[in-house]
Amino acid sequence: MSQPSDNLYSQPLEAITGFVFDENVARVFRDMISRSVPGYATLLSMLPVLAQEYIQDNSHCYDLGCSLGAATLALQHSHTRNNVTIIAVDNSDAMIAQCKANILQSSTNTTVKFHCADICDIEINNASMAIMNFTLQFIQPDKRLALLSKIYNGLNKGGALVLSEKIRFDDSQQTWMTQLHHTFKKLNGYSDLEISQKRSALDNILIADTVEQHQQRLRQAGFSKILLWYQCFNFVSILAVK
Ligand SMILES: C[S@@+](CC[C@H](N)C(=O)[O-])C[C@H]1O[C@@H](n2cnc3c(N)ncnc32)[C@H](O)[C@@H]1O
Repeated sequence: MSQPSDNLYSQPLEAITGFVFDENVARVFRDMISRSVPGYATLLSMLPVLAQEYIQDNSHCYDLGCSLGAATLALQHSHTRNNVTIIAVDNSDAMIAQCKANILQSSTNTTVKFHCADICDIEINNASMAIMNFTLQFIQPDKRLALLSKIYNGLNKGGALVLSEKIRFDDSQQTWMTQLHHTFKKLNGYSDLEISQKRSALDNILIADTVEQHQQRLRQAGFSKILLWYQCFNFVSILAVK
C-alpha cells in the first residue's frame, strides 16, 4: 500500500515553528521516518530477535513513543510466549488514532492496549521488554533519568530495554556524521531546503545526547548490562538488560 509522501518542508516557509507530532506529521510519518533515519528498517527487522530473547510469559511489553506502531507490529508477530500484552503509548492523539487503525488491521493472539499519555506519567510494571525508539531525544533532558529509572524498576529480572536514538558527537565526527546523514536524506529525495527547514524546526526540540551520556544514564538508572547492538551513522540502538 503506498504511503503519503513527506513534503511538509518542501516549500519556503515564512516562519519555521517548532516541530510537533500533529495530524500533518502523522499522515506522512511512515515515509518521513524511513527517508530520515538511516538503518530504520533494519533496526525494526531485528526486533523479533530481541523479542525472542527477552519477552517472558505472562508479562507486559511497552512501546514508548509508539507513533504508528512500527515496533508494536514487529513484536506482535514475532514472539512465541504466552499471555503477553503490548502497551503502546504516545502523547499525540493523531499518532495513537492511526496506530490503533494499523494494529487492528493485523490480528494475532497478543493483546495490544493503547494509551494516549505522556510516557513520563504512566505506570510501568511486570515488563519483560520496553522499546523506546527515537523518543527519549524528545523528552526534556532533566526528566530522562527519572524515566529510565521508572523503566528499570518496572522491568522483571532478565527483562530488557531497547533504546534507539539519534546521537551527537563531541568531536570532529559530528560534522562527518552530519554530512553522511544529509547525503542519506538527499539520496532519499529531500532537497537542501527541506533538510535545512526541518533542522530548524527540530532545533531545541530534538536534543541528542552522546553514546557515553546514554550509557552513563542507563548505569545510573540501575542497568549493569548495556550493549550498543546497532549503529547506522548518527543513529544507534542500545540494549540494556536488568
Ligand atoms: C520519532 S517518533 C518515534 C518513532 C516510533 N517509535 C517508531 O519506531 O516508528 C517520537 C514519538 O514520540 C512521541 N512522544 C514525544 N514525547 C512524548 C512523551 N512525553 N510521551 C509520549 N509520547 C511522546 C511523539 O508523539 C512521536 O510519536
